[in-house]
Amino acid sequence: MKGILLAGGAGTRLYPITIPISKQIIPVYDKPMIYYPLSTLIASGINDILVITTKKDIDLFKTLLQDGSQWGCTISYAVQNMPNGIAESFIIAEEFIGSDNVALILGDNIFYFPSLKNIIANSINIQGATIFAYHVSDPSRYGVVEFTPENKIVSIEEKPKYPKSNYAIPGFYFFDNHVIEYAKNIKPSDRGELEITDVIKQYYQDKLLNVIKMDKGTAWLDTGTVGSLMEASQFVHVLENRQGLKVGCVEEQAYLMNYINDNQLKKLSTHFNNEYGEYLKTLLNA
Ligand code: DAU
Repeated sequence: MKGILLAGGAGTRLYPITIPISKQIIPVYDKPMIYYPLSTLIASGINDILVITTKKDIDLFKTLLQDGSQWGCTISYAVQNMPNGIAESFIIAEEFIGSDNVALILGDNIFYFPSLKNIIANSINIQGATIFAYHVSDPSRYGVVEFTPENKIVSIEEKPKYPKSNYAIPGFYFFDNHVIEYAKNIKPSDRGELEITDVIKQYYQDKLLNVIKMDKGTAWLDTGTVGSLMEASQFVHVLENRQGLKVGCVEEQAYLMNYINDNQLKKLSTHFNNEYGEYLKTLLNA
């Protein structure tokens, strides 16, 4: 399974912060935002990753993430010329995906996902698509999935004015190789974007859509506004301080997945003369 990390867009909702810098580079507490979705991909067992971003920002990401080999991963890069929609990423990534299945994660979606390993083991190899559903109080800001009481999917809508359920679709999706063809089939929506929900609908129509409700122990955090960005930082701060563990630590996930060994982690820890480096050293003794 390949992984796409989508980190483009204009970030206008966070202006003036994002005038000179990509949204996905700005900090969420103690690390750049993109570390969180990247560590989620790595924790899912994906280490061949394409980062799609803008022409303006690509060098920033290359400086930060390099070629991924320091984490036992392969990270490559592609440019999206205009924010034409999330589903365009599959067209841009066609060559990268080749004949494989692919996971897509949005660069501004942050998950605290203690049960991720079990979920992935059960869903990653199935035919079709696997998406998640997360209960929120404000579903009209998201893609929304509606269920019957027996958990059968009834509808999928993008940002409905009058949502039929409280289940939002988070920005983390698994698709089989048909996704490229499906992305090419769709037309831009009223807001001029190739919508990820239109791709998902095609899997639904073909009866190849699997939706997993995220359990209550999972947190899916929004970073779309300055307020929600601050809340995400506070959440990570509280959790890390209380538990003495880190959320979204790329080096840690790479180590846990055995993509890097003790010596490599030790070397990485020496790059940080701070609490982050000290934390990496504690992992060696755990
Ligand atoms: O966060 C989950 C939601 O993400 C889903 O529930 C929705 O179905 C999905 O459409 C999307 O909603 P938004 O409209 O809020 O996404 P936004 O435009 O904020 O873009 C999400 C991320 O993807 C953001 O980091 C920028 C990046 N992006 C977005 C577009 C449209 C790109 O890199 N290129 C794009 O063309």
